[in-house]
Amino acid sequence: MRKKRTEKIVFENVEVLDAGAKGVSVAKAPDGKIILIPNVVPGDVIDVQTLKKRKAYYEGKATVFHKFSEHRTQPICEHFGACGGCKWQNMKYSQQLFYKNQEVYNNLKRIGKIELPEFEPILGSEKTLFYRNKMEFSFSNARWLTEEEIRNSDEIIKENALGFHIPRMWDKILDIKKCHLQQDPSNDIRNEIRRFANQNNLSFFNPRDNEGLLRTLMIRTASTGEIMVLIQFYYDDKTERELLMNFLVERFPEITSLQYVINGKPNDTIYDQEVVLFKGREYILEEMEGLKFSINAKSFYQTNSDQAYELYKITRDFAGLTGNELVYDLYTGTGTIAQFVSKNAKKVIGVEAVPEAIADAKLNAERNEITNCEFYVGDMKNVFNDDFIATHGHPDVIITDPPRDGMHKDVVAQILKIAPKRVVYVSCNSATQARDLALMDEDYKVIKVRPVDMFPQTHHVENVVLLERK
Ligand SMILES: C[S@@+](CC[C@H](N)C(=O)[O-])C[C@H]1O[C@@H](n2cnc3c(N)ncnc32)[C@H](O)[C@@H]1O
Repeated sequence: MRKKRTEKIVFENVEVLDAGAKGVSVAKAPDGKIILIPNVVPGDVIDVQTLKKRKAYYEGKATVFHKFSEHRTQPICEHFGACGGCKWQNMKYSQQLFYKNQEVYNNLKRIGKIELPEFEPILGSEKTLFYRNKMEFSFSNARWLTEEEIRNSDEIIKENALGFHIPRMWDKILDIKKCHLQQDPSNDIRNEIRRFANQNNLSFFNPRDNEGLLRTLMIRTASTGEIMVLIQFYYDDKTERELLMNFLVERFPEITSLQYVINGKPNDTIYDQEVVLFKGREYILEEMEGLKFSINAKSFYQTNSDQAYELYKITRDFAGLTGNELVYDLYTGTGTIAQFVSKNAKKVIGVEAVPEAIADAKLNAERNEITNCEFYVGDMKNVFNDDFIATHGHPDVIITDPPRDGMHKDVVAQILKIAPKRVVYVSCNSATQARDLALMDEDYKVIKVRPVDMFPQTHHVENVVLLERK
């Protein structure tokens, strides 16, 4: 170990031991503290320079590679390293699955402290690239520059960018030339919009001064071939807006839903904004096992459609339905799981907080000619109460798929109170899932666990757990 003039410490010949949370790998410093290091793979032997010293750990970066891990693979994307999107693209897919499985196991064991059955093998995604059906890009007039660009330039370059936020830098956008996450024509659409906007002097947003016309771009694709494009403008300039929208109509006739938002708020979320249809339909259609689901600009839909089908099949299988059960689908979104399991159940009740999602769920059920599903809107901890159960009946099976925060403790308490035979818990965050499972441990036994990878090249992992009443 030697100290540098900058007071930053360099640890030499350190082996990377583990792939940790948030896609950052872990090594151990000679003083016993953990070092968190991005863009390295377990098995690499490196010199690490510390960047930050915390009480319990260091944050560092690899400065020298003495040995490359056998688990490495060449990242396919030119933006790897700068872009925060696919942090594990330098790790073989089999190893990615290994660490995802380990993360779920560790969380259930350490946080949940519950008795676990042997896991069913983690289900990998057949598509490991171009698997996402939704991407959101930001416009900025302050392109993020690489260290090399800065070194090679005498003057400050200011250039427009359309791409992703640099991790932890809210005002810096990495200009994306090719992203490997969404199928064509996603890259073409984004690159053509950038080219056309630059050519026609349409201004890109400046988040520091809050000025500039173009804010965000969302592209949604579906397995049916339908495509939605939504442009968010900071202010309304009819001439410039129509220039860009008409260009898209001409250049990409395959877009089936072209929409826009005019948002003068400081933040760029569209969820509280009016979405205006420019051409086509307000929604695109996704299809799964003959069921059609309409997705509008604000709808939640699982972002890896192929793998969502696998996730839902596991969920339905775990639910063990015979056709006689009353099923509750909590956090139902647009009612996809509810409809997917409906033919195996007597009745399904879906509950969800977003009114637009529930409106979609009802429309979808009607389109799919499903008559045994009902949908209700409201915050789960308020809606899912004794009156609700008295009105809609005691569920035999509960399927629950909460957001990353997991279930509110009152929702867990209500499940325990009404005591269904089985609970299938689908989660995108095994840490909060483990916390909730611990709360249910006295009454419910974990029977099956199956992690599912919906997001290759990232550290994210979905997990399905079957609980049965003890
Ligand atoms: C992970 S998504 C699951 C959606 C659905 N099961 C699917 O597969 O498409 C979680 C859902 O919970 C909803 N949600 C979040 N907080 C909620 C709350 N407090 N009460 C009810 N629903 C909520 C979100 O709007 C979202 O639709």
